[in-house]
Amino acid sequence: EMSPIDKAKFVAAKRASDLVETGMRIGLGTGSTAAWLVRCLGERVRDQGLRIRAVATSTRTAALAREVGIDVIALDEAGWLDLTIDGADEFDGDLNLIKGGGGALLQEKIVATASDRMVVIADAGKEVEKLGAFPLPVEVIPFGWKATQKMIEEMLVSMDVLGRKTSLRMDQDAPFVTDEGNRILDLHLNRIGNARQLALALNQVPGVVENGLFIDICDAVVIGHGDGRVDLRD
Ligand code: A5P
Repeated sequence: EMSPIDKAKFVAAKRASDLVETGMRIGLGTGSTAAWLVRCLGERVRDQGLRIRAVATSTRTAALAREVGIDVIALDEAGWLDLTIDGADEFDGDLNLIKGGGGALLQEKIVATASDRMVVIADAGKEVEKLGAFPLPVEVIPFGWKATQKMIEEMLVSMDVLGRKTSLRMDQDAPFVTDEGNRILDLHLNRIGNARQLALALNQVPGVVENGLFIDICDAVVIGHGDGRVDLRD
C-alpha cells in the first residue's frame, strides 16, 4: 500500500505524463516525484508505443529512464526541448520554485530553461506563501568554497531574508558531490522576501555556479493530494 505522500506524488506524475505526446523531446527531472513520472512514461513507451527522446537532469534519472526503456539523449543532441517535467521542493503562488533538494539543480535549471514549457509535479505540502522554509541549495565549485561561503553570508546581511546560516551539504562523512563535481551549500533563510533579487545576487558571487531559485521558469504546477485528487495551477 502506498503512503498518502507517495500517492500524492504518483497521481501528480501520472496526470503530467498525459501531457507527453509521440515525437516530443522531453526533459526528465530528478527526485522521488520525477521518478514516478519516468516509470509512467516507460509504461507508455512499452504498452502504447509512445515514441519520445528524453534528456535527463541527473545520472540517477538517466539510469532509471534507460531501465524502463526510454531513449535518453544528450541535451546538445536534442538541441531544444518541447516539455520538461520535474519535481520541486517548494512552489509559491507565482509558480516560483526552490529546487535542488536532490542536488541536481544545475542540470535541472539548464534543462528547464532550454524547454518551451516546464511543468512541475508536486504533492500539496510543497505549496508555500513565501519561499525559504526549505533550505536553499547553492552549487559552488570546490576551489575556495569556504571563501565563497563567507561571501554569500556577507551578501545575505544586506538581503531581505530572515535566516543567514549556511551549511555544506554532506553525504555521510564526506561532502556531497554533484554530477558536475561541485559542492552544495544549503542556505537556511526561513523566509525569502525578494526571491528574484536574491537569485540574481547569489549568481554574482565568485565561485557560485547556480542557485536553486527558479524564477519565471515554471509554467504550471500539477498538485497531487493524498486522496488521489489532482489540481492544476497555471
Ligand atoms: C532535485 O535536485 C530536486 O530539485 C527535486 O526536484 C526535488 O528535491 C524534489 O524531490 P522529491 O520529488 O523527491 O520531493
